[in-house]
Amino acid sequence: MSTEIRNRIKKNVANLESWAKKFQIDAYRIYERDIPDYPFIVDRYNDKFIVYDRSIDSIDSREDKQQHFPQLIDALKDLFGASEDQIIIKRRSRQKGESQYEKTAETNRTETVREGEAVFKVNLYDYLDTGLFLDHRLMRDKIRKQAKGKEVLNLFCYTGSVSVFAALGGGHVTSVDMSATYSRWAQDNFRLNGLDPSQHVFVTQNALEYLHEPKDERFDIIFLDPPTFSNSKRMDESFEVERDQVPLVDACMDLLADEGVLYFSNNKRSFKLEPVIEASYRVRDITASTIPKDFRDPKIHRVYEIRRKSTPGL
Ligand SMILES: C[S@@+](CC[C@H](N)C(=O)[O-])C[C@H]1O[C@@H](n2cnc3c(N)ncnc32)[C@H](O)[C@@H]1O
Repeated sequence: MSTEIRNRIKKNVANLESWAKKFQIDAYRIYERDIPDYPFIVDRYNDKFIVYDRSIDSIDSREDKQQHFPQLIDALKDLFGASEDQIIIKRRSRQKGESQYEKTAETNRTETVREGEAVFKVNLYDYLDTGLFLDHRLMRDKIRKQAKGKEVLNLFCYTGSVSVFAALGGGHVTSVDMSATYSRWAQDNFRLNGLDPSQHVFVTQNALEYLHEPKDERFDIIFLDPPTFSNSKRMDESFEVERDQVPLVDACMDLLADEGVLYFSNNKRSFKLEPVIEASYRVRDITASTIPKDFRDPKIHRVYEIRRKSTPGL
């Protein structure tokens, strides 16, 4: 076994364990390409480990490097006493569009993980993503803290983890996702947290259509976290976050209460905000304050806080 990779993971976990315990965080990143020869990512979910191997796309597969993946797996077994079943390998390269959210297996095995005040249902085996985006942990907490008495809209809500925190913080939450599976999963997450889904709103619809339907209501907080690319049988046109950002942000701003705030997040590494958005609204790039302690990659996501220019006191 390579002691280099073993020692690095051991050191990372030693640095993170007391923090995770203090904030009651069961799921966190314990290794992120720290050693260039081991370009892998490992996320811990209690006693299970998700290992992302994108090396097929990104690094050379010279023979001397081919042992590195098994060495990482051996290190996890040795350090944590993990069995094969507790180490889940995600090998497929990141897909564009809907296929990223399709099933890759059919175990239907789910478990729960705690994150501070909340618990979430995750499925570590069947999809490329687990049901919880760990990089948005701080964003969830930020929204929880501001949600009391507020109308909150979560667009592209996925499994509703931001919605759960908004509701736990005392907000009334509308969660929109095109997928019926994720909409049900979001409602399961509400129930898991003692929240009654019927007291909130779940919309299974293309978020782009939802945004353009006439509405009387206004929202105090909007969380907009679209995929980089989206197209599906249920959509007439494709969506690309950078290409389509201006009408998307404008449509959200039309739904925002006068003193409301829009958090616009995305994962496109090369994303650039259109200057017209900065000219039209008061925009702050808050990315740095939203990257959690266990992530090393400053470009894992990007978040803009967007308000109306006329908001008093700013
Ligand atoms: C939260 S977003 C993407 C999150 C993250 N930023 C990323 O790129 O992986 C993923 C969710 O968007 C949903 N989704 C994709 N296109 C959609 C659309 N046009 N309208 C509503 N939901 C959509 C998917 O069903 C999925 O639950």
